[in-house]
Amino acid sequence: MPDSDVQRGLEDVVALESRICFIDGKGGRLIYQGYDIRDLAAHSTFEEVAYLLWYGRLPTAAQLAELRTRLVGLREIPPELTAILDDLPVDAGPMDVLRTAVSALAILEPTETQPGASSIGGAQRLTAVIPTILGHFHRRRASLPALDPRPADSHAAWLLTALTGRTPSELDVQAMDVALILHADHELNASTFAARVTASTLSDLYSAVTSAVGTLKGPLHGGANERVMELLDEIGTVDRVDEVTRAKLSRHERVMGFGHRVYKVEDPRATILREWSRRVGQERGDLHYFDLLRRLEEVVHREKGLYPNVDLYSGSVYTLLGIPKDLFTPIFAASRVAGWTAHVLEEYEDLRLIRPTARYIGPTDLVYVPIESRAG
Ligand code: CMC
Repeated sequence: MPDSDVQRGLEDVVALESRICFIDGKGGRLIYQGYDIRDLAAHSTFEEVAYLLWYGRLPTAAQLAELRTRLVGLREIPPELTAILDDLPVDAGPMDVLRTAVSALAILEPTETQPGASSIGGAQRLTAVIPTILGHFHRRRASLPALDPRPADSHAAWLLTALTGRTPSELDVQAMDVALILHADHELNASTFAARVTASTLSDLYSAVTSAVGTLKGPLHGGANERVMELLDEIGTVDRVDEVTRAKLSRHERVMGFGHRVYKVEDPRATILREWSRRVGQERGDLHYFDLLRRLEEVVHREKGLYPNVDLYSGSVYTLLGIPKDLFTPIFAASRVAGWTAHVLEEYEDLRLIRPTARYIGPTDLVYVPIESRAG
């Protein structure tokens, strides 16, 4: 097979058909089940978007109310999982904790782990419980008492409360809700692909989500917004953006929050989050990060022609909401779990083992040498 037949990173390879999500990389549009993300971010809620992703249509008011009640009822973590979480080192990475928790739940909730259509129960259980898991771990490491889930809270409000311990303002809840909507799905991104590969072996939904959490953790995927904030703190003031960024690029380092495998123009999620970064910053009278990011955008576009992706502005919003950096990627997971599980359900519906091939480039005719005769 000639070299050109290998698509490194599976770039531009169409691996399967899906009804869930469409990315128009040239037009800068993102569509969930037919609906433009801009409309969903302006008018919807995370719960409504989760319903859309799972069932393929927007819910009626009654269906949405029923889903909300169901999710609230699934928020609590079982005592066995509390014991496991309380045994983990307090300095463990929150994504490692989340991966361990989802994996442990697979053992604790065996009825939810049968592959097939019934996995919608597991999809809703994991979506509902992840904020509680993250909040429990975070409060324990901060030596704060655990909070009881608050049934009146929306998903976004509960996530914010669980992570900050404070009752959030309406604007803060709206900002978090929009961030959750924007991160809920993104076609065959690496973590969703990992989830689908796992499901395609007829493994269970909790195993698929465990694979996805491990895949999302990497800085080229879910971990980029944390690095953006580290860079902003290193830069410090707007007048230093040019110098620090150019030095970084001259060392051939990547500037996180820019570039995308699929978008050739600005990521529409970045456009929406830029406005939320401004809005939340203005409300607090603190546009420090927003101003740095605007300048960073100019410099990176001028130097490399790259556009912002979803990770550029999300960290500035989360920081203003009082969330520590190492919880940014777990928040991504708390949202993307809706997309992961929608894809897993779709995979079960039309299952085909995902198993590509590799072009072998090693030798094939080496002679076996007994161990005692091998030279170092
Ligand atoms: N900073 C500096 N240079 C970059 C960047 C960047 N952020 N992104 C791409 N480039 C350059 C890269 O060095 C290469 O240049 P050259 O051809 O001179 O070697 C060229 O652009 C093409 O890069 P690539 O790695 O082949 O492109 P890709 O499609 O594999 O990259 C990416 C996609 C997201 C991995 C990459 O843009 C990147 O590393 N970005 C920074 C990390 C980041 O922000 N990740 C979040 C992605 S959005 C969340 C999600 O949807 O999962």
